[in-house]
Amino acid sequence: MTEQSRTTGTVALVTGANKGIGYEIAAGLGALGWSVGVGARDDARRDDAVEKLRATGVDAFGVPLDVTDDASVAAAARLVEERAGWLDVLVNNAGVTGGMPQEPTRVTPAQVRLVVETNVIGVMRVTNALLPLLRRSASPRIVNMSSGVGSLARQSATTDVLSTGPISAAYSPSKTFLNAVTVQYAKELADTNILVNLACPGFVATDLNGFRGVRTPEQGAAIAIQLATLPDDGPTGGYFEDAGVIPW
Ligand SMILES: NC(=O)c1ccc[n+]([C@@H]2O[C@H](COP(=O)([O-])OP(=O)(O)OC[C@H]3O[C@@H](n4cnc5c(N)ncnc54)[C@H](OP(=O)(O)O)[C@@H]3O)[C@@H](O)[C@H]2O)c1
Repeated sequence: MTEQSRTTGTVALVTGANKGIGYEIAAGLGALGWSVGVGARDDARRDDAVEKLRATGVDAFGVPLDVTDDASVAAAARLVEERAGWLDVLVNNAGVTGGMPQEPTRVTPAQVRLVVETNVIGVMRVTNALLPLLRRSASPRIVNMSSGVGSLARQSATTDVLSTGPISAAYSPSKTFLNAVTVQYAKELADTNILVNLACPGFVATDLNGFRGVRTPEQGAAIAIQLATLPDDGPTGGYFEDAGVIPW
């Protein structure tokens, strides 16, 4: 890579950015003039997304990335290091439901493993690989895409599927697990300048739910963009949706 092609401004990496909410997070951060790494596991889908973003003026670059694969994640970190030398914002957006139905009495161990491997361990794998680059930023931010369905307070207070989702022994608990892990990251990183928070996009029409959601991907991206652009005195270890703090 030539010196001229090296990135100089704010640099972000969004996982699962080839479609849905992740694509719109990349578009939103790109619209701020940031350089945005489009993390995606499928070459064709990643290339299409990068091309589409560039056509709208975004300084997008493709980052081959399967969050469940150690070697892929290590290579992604090397690519960002070579391209930019540091990372300002990491948005851990990639996620799967594991397929429905998944009532506790019917869910398969394979469903649970896939969902935890992607939605929880994947976030930890990517975060830990990118942390050395985040530590080089003046104002590093980590945004983990959770969901209101991970809220035990909501799960135990209502059966309204709009706030709890269907009965789920893999997806919803994976977001509860992610919430707990994120609180631990915030505690460990408390004496650094890294702010790490959880975002819930609301019920968004994407592939994830067969486009049954009631919000647009752009609306879903807004809270993640807000947490990605927090001021230095912003919160850390919090759980937020557009309306504010979500109860644990
Ligand atoms: N939609 C909602 O209502 C809703 C509500 C709350 C939270 N969320 C969360 O928001 C995030 C984005 O979801 P979405 O609704 O935009 O779903 P989506 O359209 O299905 O997008 C999911 C993204 O994650 C990627 N992905 C899945 N497994 C991956 C892996 N192993 N490595 C790398 N990328 C992987 C997908 O890539 P491929 O194209 O290769 O599959 C895709 O880019 C998820 O974390 C989800 O749990 C969504």
